[in-house]
Amino acid sequence: MRGVVSSRRGSDAERAVRQAEERAREATAEAVRLRRALDALAPAVVVCDESGRVVLRNRQTLELGTARQAASLVGAAVDELLVRAGQGVTATRTLELLGPPPRTLVITTAPLRHDGEQVGTVAVIDDVSERRRLEAVRRDFVANVSHELRTPIGALGVLSETLSEEEDPAAVRRLASRIGAETERAGRLIADLLDLSRIEAEGSMPGEPVGIAAVLAEAAERVRHVAEGRQVIVKVAEDAAGPEVRGDRGQLVSSVVNLLDNAVKYSDAGSTVDVGARCESGWVEIRVRDQGIGIPSRDLERIFERFYRVDRARSRDTGGTGLGLSIVRHVASNHGGEVRVESHEGEGSTFTLRLPESS
Ligand SMILES: Nc1ncnc2c1ncn2[C@@H]1O[C@H](COP(=O)(O)OP(=O)(O)O)[C@@H](O)[C@H]1O
Ligand SMILES: [Mg+2]
Repeated sequence: MRGVVSSRRGSDAERAVRQAEERAREATAEAVRLRRALDALAPAVVVCDESGRVVLRNRQTLELGTARQAASLVGAAVDELLVRAGQGVTATRTLELLGPPPRTLVITTAPLRHDGEQVGTVAVIDDVSERRRLEAVRRDFVANVSHELRTPIGALGVLSETLSEEEDPAAVRRLASRIGAETERAGRLIADLLDLSRIEAEGSMPGEPVGIAAVLAEAAERVRHVAEGRQVIVKVAEDAAGPEVRGDRGQLVSSVVNLLDNAVKYSDAGSTVDVGARCESGWVEIRVRDQGIGIPSRDLERIFERFYRVDRARSRDTGGTGLGLSIVRHVASNHGGEVRVESHEGEGSTFTLRLPESS
């Protein structure tokens, strides 16, 4: 009897040990899961126990302060806010680090409660630099668009007012034609803005194989009228038959049209613009070369920015919107490629659109 009882007791104890082990395993697995989940988050996270001792920090905390000054600034701010969290206060602070690179961190701390008791504190440190930069870009963009539209619309107002008081038929015709030109300018700007926002929205795509020869031919056809008007010859290289690129035909045509349009616009009468394509170790290179005015080297970096022009007056006279090259750059990146430029003032420019060849 005794033996039976004791053996039953033994098996109870064994079961209890097994359960305890099982619980410990689960707790460990849960802690590991929690730690990995914190590592997967973008912000840096620090968790403290009720005495203020750090019990958990995710991987991102290691990257916070590579520079010593940044580390001590962030550390001091986090410590101070965690003390306040320990007193039950949720707090937020924005920290501007001078860099380089300059960064903006938002630190938020909060008390952790369980069953009405405070069991610790948590600090979340979010690097919002990129978000802030994009907000600034967007604000600038809206301001630029408003400014660019105000010019033709202001002109339209003045012209129509003058027109309403004009009686000389020749002057009326002149004013009407200027109204037409300003309307066209506003229309071009809106068309380019729509193009750009559509291309941005479409993003990168696998797309269909597109024959580059047809793209070049269509683009050349689209600028033919402008080129003839400016007495510039556009030559499409004959050997451009082969390569294909996977993507969006409309976008590709639009980008080559923009390159050709610039090449024609920034060239003098009697000069030639060459366009061709070739394959180079898995890449298709579409090249547009002109013998035009060229681009000063200090501006080369910036010409792909929206609304950036080297010579505002010349761009305006030739009907430019300043958006052409940003459209080209977007099309290139949507197709997994890039656009390059080489230019010498007074000699000419060569723009190369490099796109992965369709296999
Ligand atoms: N082929 C070129 N030759 C000389 N300058 C060019 C050429 N292409 C672009 N640029 C310069 O880059 C600027 C930006 O080009 P783009 O974005 O197409 O705007 P725009 O509407 O002014 O043509 C132009 O204003 C011009 O100053
Ligand atoms: Mg242009």
